[in-house]
Amino acid sequence: MIWATANSNLALVKYWGKAREADNQPAAPSLSVTLDGLTSLACVEERRTEAADRVAWYPPGPTGGLADFVARGRSELGIRHALDVVITSRFPVAAGLASSASAYAALTTALVAFAPEPVSAARIAALARRGSGSACRSLVAGFVEWRAGDEAGAVVQVAPPEHWPLTILVAVTSAEVKSVSSREGMRRTRATSPFYRSWLTAGAADFGVVREAVRLRDLPLLGPAIERNALRMHAAALGADPPLLYWEAATLSVIREVWGLRRSGVPAFFTIDAGPQVKVLCAPADADHVAQALAAVTGVSCVLRSRPGGAPRILSGPPDWAPDPVPRMPPVGGGGAGA
Ligand code: PMV
Repeated sequence: MIWATANSNLALVKYWGKAREADNQPAAPSLSVTLDGLTSLACVEERRTEAADRVAWYPPGPTGGLADFVARGRSELGIRHALDVVITSRFPVAAGLASSASAYAALTTALVAFAPEPVSAARIAALARRGSGSACRSLVAGFVEWRAGDEAGAVVQVAPPEHWPLTILVAVTSAEVKSVSSREGMRRTRATSPFYRSWLTAGAADFGVVREAVRLRDLPLLGPAIERNALRMHAAALGADPPLLYWEAATLSVIREVWGLRRSGVPAFFTIDAGPQVKVLCAPADADHVAQALAAVTGVSCVLRSRPGGAPRILSGPPDWAPDPVPRMPPVGGGGAGA
């Protein structure tokens, strides 16, 4: 049995659009921070006497994409035996917290551990991003860029986690599964939004600013760039037909709260992915004050706290936060691959 963990990541510059959909090749470069503590666990075991894989999310969810991913991963990595796969996460899934990024990064790490031959970092990244584009960024610690264009696909560390001990707060406004997946949202934005092209151009410019701000640890330079990048991504999505609105009323209230904090002299800045949660960056010294202000906003159910985090790990047993016991696969017929 292999236990592999990976952290989620937060895009400071978003990837919202694909140059090639089959393998999630990005149309624009993105830059993320890997999130300590927002972790997924993949438990993978060989089924030496069986022919078919069995896959499951815990809590249970549709497994079609997961089953395909495992089947392709096995065949590419030359893993001969069928596998039992269970994936669980430490935080609300499918609500704009990039649980698919941490899940597929953890699963890829576990699959690679079963590969008979060494696998290059580039192949590992290519595999992970087929599950979820942003999963490839969760393979790397700290601040991470995912390139587009000529170097499409390369995932490179911009700075390690200790380079800049920012606090990242997540104001959770809804734990519901989002109604339109990122995959469908990107497809629709590209196909129908009149703002898609200008979003790509603007995003590439934000990328340069954010990379420099990270290098310099310059929050006043970083903050406005990440806010406008997120708002432009959502503007492009709002322009789709039918429109994509990922926000709840509380999402907007949190934005206003962050702007209010800034007016009162507290440097806090937000970003929002394809979901209703608002992620707020600030200096650790301001974190308690900012977290309290966010928690007081009507509609915010809780505030999670994170900081730049590490790369995936193979563990010698389940982590202490995993369900005890780690859920085993249901009996055959009760949720097999492709169910
Ligand atoms: O990883 P995907 O393909 O589900 O897309 C992630 C999209 C955003 O989170 C909105 C942006 C990003 O770069 O992570």
